Amino acid sequence: MQPSEFFVGSIDQGTTSTRFLIFNRDGEPVASHQVEFSQIYPNPGWHEHDPLELVYSVETCIDHAVREFEEKGFSRSNIKCVGITNQRETTVVWDHESGEPLNNAIVWTDTRSQAIVTELKQRPDASKLQAICGLPLSTYSSSTKLLWMLAHVPKVKEAFDRGTLAFGTVDSWLVYRLNGVRANVFVSDSTNASRTMFMSLHSLQYDDTLLDFFGIKGKIHLPRIVPSSDSHAYGSIVSGALEGVPIMGCLGDQSSALVGQKGFSPGMAKNTYGTGCFLLYNVGEKPVISTHGLLATVAYNFGGKAVYALEGSIAVAGSGVKFLQNNLAFFQDSKEVNDLALSVEDNGGCVFVTAFSGLFAPYWIDDAKGTIFGITQYTQKGHIARATLEATCFQTKAILDAMEKDSGKTLSELAVDGGMSNSDLAMQTQADLISIPVYRPKMRETTALGAAIAAGLAAGLWRNFAELRDINRVGGVVFEPRITREESAKKFGEWEKAVQMSRGWIG
Ligand code: G3P
Repeated sequence: MQPSEFFVGSIDQGTTSTRFLIFNRDGEPVASHQVEFSQIYPNPGWHEHDPLELVYSVETCIDHAVREFEEKGFSRSNIKCVGITNQRETTVVWDHESGEPLNNAIVWTDTRSQAIVTELKQRPDASKLQAICGLPLSTYSSSTKLLWMLAHVPKVKEAFDRGTLAFGTVDSWLVYRLNGVRANVFVSDSTNASRTMFMSLHSLQYDDTLLDFFGIKGKIHLPRIVPSSDSHAYGSIVSGALEGVPIMGCLGDQSSALVGQKGFSPGMAKNTYGTGCFLLYNVGEKPVISTHGLLATVAYNFGGKAVYALEGSIAVAGSGVKFLQNNLAFFQDSKEVNDLALSVEDNGGCVFVTAFSGLFAPYWIDDAKGTIFGITQYTQKGHIARATLEATCFQTKAILDAMEKDSGKTLSELAVDGGMSNSDLAMQTQADLISIPVYRPKMRETTALGAAIAAGLAAGLWRNFAELRDINRVGGVVFEPRITREESAKKFGEWEKAVQMSRGWIG
């Protein structure tokens, strides 16, 4: 078989939907399917997913996309391997013997562990953690979500006491179930493991100081940490339309988008406007521990050699638009946000700090709450829609400033993708605020493409990065800044003031 006849599948298990895409060797999607699944909000600040529903959503997407693929005249036997990319930090616990989940997954956006975080931060040894794992103590990482379950869910505590508690991020849960429980394939790739607070960025293995700090050393089953691209570690799919097809790649979704944007050289950065928004900046083969509110994370680990990134994490991007749609009934379809925002000339003096999960990078204000400033009788829905899009752009600007301080380098262009990047208005606003060009590629399925690349490299579909060079190279759009740096700084000053005022609201 010629390499051009190979196809690679990509499971993209995100925060609000699951997708399966099938890519050809030119990195073009030829078939795909997407489903949404239940978002469970039992209490304010809580956000859960049903782990079995996540698996079912993946299986459904695979079956439908493979059907479409065959209807287009292709044969499923040409799908040589599958990659997985997933929402990160979301915490799944199950019984190591039965394989059954012991609780709903606690989603990365969930802030219920805030009291645990406050308590842990007071310990003198807390200050040592970030240098090892790259992450600050917050409600965001998996660690404090696991501690919350141990403290509040009797079934989880009982399994812990019995020694049968298994913990994993969504990648390890999916790999475990797609292989069939009996196969017991229990692994996690290093990009996902780097979001737990249990892994050392330096050794790429679990770290005793970290496990001791959280009180779990030797007491729970943790997935073996493996490279992001590996022809054996992830096993193969046990049933359904792709029965027997090996899983060969795995990347947390933000790492995957960096790979999909081919951000392989130090100094390259991408910003993905999904449910949240995440800016990853490739810093090369040594981690840079941030002193300005960013995270250090594994960008990807191909062939056992890790490349690291500085990350600016924004909890609310597309979810802010969804909030306007679902909670405030501003429109029927999130795509309409662009037109609504364009119905007014500017934000009319409104600034919306969309701190629904506290405020993440670079501020890390756990007790910030979503707050709209500047409302008058003049305020229209359009102003609030505009302020919602601007919130992500402002926070991106704050992150880039922090990144320049941490890395000592200035970015010359920002590559973007994700749902909100479809809005020309949002991307023009972004370029205006950061005063550098914003590049939007033609094919924006970069997150799914990254996992396909990870799997395809392991399978030999592509042999090296050079062979990926021509993928998605033409047809992109560049947004050039259109306002002066002074104008941009003035707007940003208003945002920073609003951020400070969103602190400490008890409600
Ligand atoms: O860290 C959370 C992130 O992985 C979620 O990504 O695309 O669902 O916003 P997304």
